[in-house]
Amino acid sequence: MLTLPLLSLQAGDVQVRIHADQGKTKINKEIYGQFAEHLGSCIYGGLWVGPGSPIPNLEGYRLDVLTALKDLQVPVLRWPGGCFADDYHWMDGIGPRADRPTLRNNNWGGTIEDNSFGTHEFLNLCEMLGCEPYISGNIGSGTVKEMAQWVEYMTSDGDTPMARLRRKNGRQKPWHVKYFGIGNEAWGCGGNMTPEYYSNEFRRYNTYLRNQPGNALYRIASGASDYDYNWTRVLMKAIGRQMNAISVHYYTVKDWGHKGKATAFSDEEYYLTLEKCLDVENVIRKHCQVMDETDPQKHIGLMVDEWGTWWDEEPGTIPGHLYQQNSLRDAMVAALMLNVYHKYTDRVRMANIAQMVNVLQAMILTDQKGTGHMVLTPTYHVFHMYKGFQEATYLPIDLTCDSITNINGKNVPTVSASAARQTDGKLILSLANTHLKEAQTVSIQLEGFAAKSVTGRILTAKHTSDFNDFDHPDTVKPVEFKDTRLKNGTLNVKLPSQSIVVLTIA
Ligand code: AHR
Repeated sequence: MLTLPLLSLQAGDVQVRIHADQGKTKINKEIYGQFAEHLGSCIYGGLWVGPGSPIPNLEGYRLDVLTALKDLQVPVLRWPGGCFADDYHWMDGIGPRADRPTLRNNNWGGTIEDNSFGTHEFLNLCEMLGCEPYISGNIGSGTVKEMAQWVEYMTSDGDTPMARLRRKNGRQKPWHVKYFGIGNEAWGCGGNMTPEYYSNEFRRYNTYLRNQPGNALYRIASGASDYDYNWTRVLMKAIGRQMNAISVHYYTVKDWGHKGKATAFSDEEYYLTLEKCLDVENVIRKHCQVMDETDPQKHIGLMVDEWGTWWDEEPGTIPGHLYQQNSLRDAMVAALMLNVYHKYTDRVRMANIAQMVNVLQAMILTDQKGTGHMVLTPTYHVFHMYKGFQEATYLPIDLTCDSITNINGKNVPTVSASAARQTDGKLILSLANTHLKEAQTVSIQLEGFAAKSVTGRILTAKHTSDFNDFDHPDTVKPVEFKDTRLKNGTLNVKLPSQSIVVLTIA
């Protein structure tokens, strides 16, 4: 592995001040959202094996995966794409499975899709997980009628044609469907539209998506790719309050031509990755500024409905299936990104990591040879450790720490932190030490909070490239963290190098 020297490095103590008495905004649980696309083995082999599979399943859903996901407290799940959404015709995925037509998945490796996982299978999965469904509608190759009928099929309780069809297919009562995306990446795979053209299309489609009694849709416009602020500005002006939210996609990729390997990288690449990941804050801030121009009251939400790392596909896997390993570096990216989302929770109402199983920065990997093995990734463990942030009140913090200067002259802070007050009154604090070699001594002032006890968990590994596989599923997993000292209202923490710690302070 190539390790290049870093240009400069300063060492010193870290100071954190938590304003525990200044919390105003709730961290929407939807920031912990997930994304499952018909891509590679996310759905087929990942979430769904079908009722006849030798892999243990509950009516076709993989039992091991289902159990792990339930424990993660998934708040919202986006489906069926991604790019797939604008090729998807929902009527192909209802009725007896044997009668469903097949299609070629043109975006993702040309794989033949048999439509055995469709609307019923998805919405029933959401009910099992206790999460909100987030449907991505097809504006690229679909019709207004098709999208309107889908909404009616899922949510009408009346004696309407689509509700009758749903009942004929075995579901009496409508599902609850709140989040509805009108297209995906309309500037690219979702139709190659201009923002002006898309805005008109949004208004036309949206007109016919009727709220059914007891089910109001939260309408999400297909937003920009990372740095395209013009897209957001045009939509804010042209669509305005007809949308409830606008999305943005941000992938942690330094160079799309050379994404790099998931588990073999230099120290320098590691820091460049963190720098790119932290740039999400600039991107979010600028989109928020644009939104503030026409919506200073923040009625319209910003949804980061695709984010995550994107590495080279694992050798030997099917091209176009985006199957990648997941190391401690991915966990660090997850922790840093979540800390940023917390900070902008007054505008960022949802974020969906790409993707839930077997694709990109996944929570879970299942054996591609079909042996029935599965493994939890380091990213899963971060989401698990961070569960207490869901619906907690964001607390402002002041943080002073050193930084590492990358070869391109840009800085990566050695520590990232986020704090919140949970509904039970306890504080939750996340601390990530990005430094590959040095521990950080952190001194934390808790303003407006009398702390009595601290418990914690830590995620770290010998090497930042360490990962879990089917033979070694526990190489990277959280353990109890005890290196804290509470004295005279100050909490001192010794953070090991390349580690993520989450503390609960009572
Ligand atoms: O998550 C993989 C793909 O990335 C999605 O299908 C698309 O929306 C984005 O470009």
